[in-house]
Amino acid sequence: MRAMVVRQYGGPEALELDERAAPEPGEGEVRVDLRAAGVNFVDTYQRSGTYRVPLPFVAGSEGAGVVSAVGPGVTGTAVGDRVTWAMVRGAGYAEQVLVPEEQLVPIPEGVSEETAAAVMLQGLTAHFLCTSTYAVQSGDTVLIHAGAGGVGLLLTQMVVKRGGRVITTTSTDGKAELSRGAGASDVVRYDREDVVERVRALTDGVGVAVVYDGVGKDTFDASLRCLRRRGMLVLFGASSGPVPPLDPQVLNRRGSLFLTRPTLYDHTLGREELLWRAADVLGWVADGSLDVRVGARYPLEQAARAHQDLESRRTTGKSLLVL
Ligand SMILES: NC(=O)c1ccc[n+]([C@@H]2O[C@H](COP(=O)([O-])OP(=O)(O)OC[C@H]3O[C@@H](n4cnc5c(N)ncnc54)[C@H](OP(=O)(O)O)[C@@H]3O)[C@@H](O)[C@H]2O)c1
Repeated sequence: MRAMVVRQYGGPEALELDERAAPEPGEGEVRVDLRAAGVNFVDTYQRSGTYRVPLPFVAGSEGAGVVSAVGPGVTGTAVGDRVTWAMVRGAGYAEQVLVPEEQLVPIPEGVSEETAAAVMLQGLTAHFLCTSTYAVQSGDTVLIHAGAGGVGLLLTQMVVKRGGRVITTTSTDGKAELSRGAGASDVVRYDREDVVERVRALTDGVGVAVVYDGVGKDTFDASLRCLRRRGMLVLFGASSGPVPPLDPQVLNRRGSLFLTRPTLYDHTLGREELLWRAADVLGWVADGSLDVRVGARYPLEQAARAHQDLESRRTTGKSLLVL
């Protein structure tokens, strides 16, 4: 079977095609024949060495497909089952992968494997951000950066579902249109408008209750300045680079602000929490109330191009490797 592996940290070219034997499932493991693998920003951090994963490794951590073998001790999963997962290191950019049974989520009727692979990691992230990190209430106004991105489009829809009003930022007309389509009431073009001024104007000078910031270095200061008193800055990623160390007094000066840096890992602790979030997300996809936009599909061997596109702001919604 074919897999995209990283042998040395580096740019997109560090992703190399490898031929290897079909993996045999061990205790508690399931082998899945992939139909699609999700491409996520975290894959680029791992490829470049920003996040250190022991070398060599198979890139990716999210996918969906059909079970082709089960190891000893697997009791609730059978050959032929349609399954999906997120955040399983080494279980992504390959024709066949091994996944611990406790990390698998069954794909409900009416949801394709491709859509499941497209929604798991970013959908679970959007879910924990608006239900747990800052539980959006009806009437809250929130700011979401990269409104047409993978997390951005899903989070916008979920916040609107909870009765929130969404302002987003983005960089092109096409992306602004997509963001409005997902439910944003206002889209700020940060390439030609002052984000803080516009957000203040849109909130009668008060500011927003929460900023969801996955962009990081380039947006962080503006995010703090867009908040109302006692508002919360949820820094959940660094697509423009990591935020430098800061003086906590800034939170006092800007109005008793809260700052948090949450991860999906800490919000899928144990099977019950994983299944709760996945049931919500996949359930909304199945009933048609959550739209999943796949912006780009690539063959496995073009994973490097998928990374280039993601890192240079050329993508919208989800990028997938299809197998
Ligand atoms: N904490 C967690 O557990 C968790 C889980 C999933 C994802 N994340 C994070 O969430 C963020 C969004 O992930 P995603 O997969 O949905 O990506 P994405 O938002 O689809 O793609 C990144 C977008 O960020 C914007 N951006 C602004 N400045 C950028 C720059 N200098 N370089 C690249 N992009 C820039 C671009 O949108 P515009 O053109 O509109 O500016 C770009 O399209 C990432 O930082 C990721 O690491 C965190």
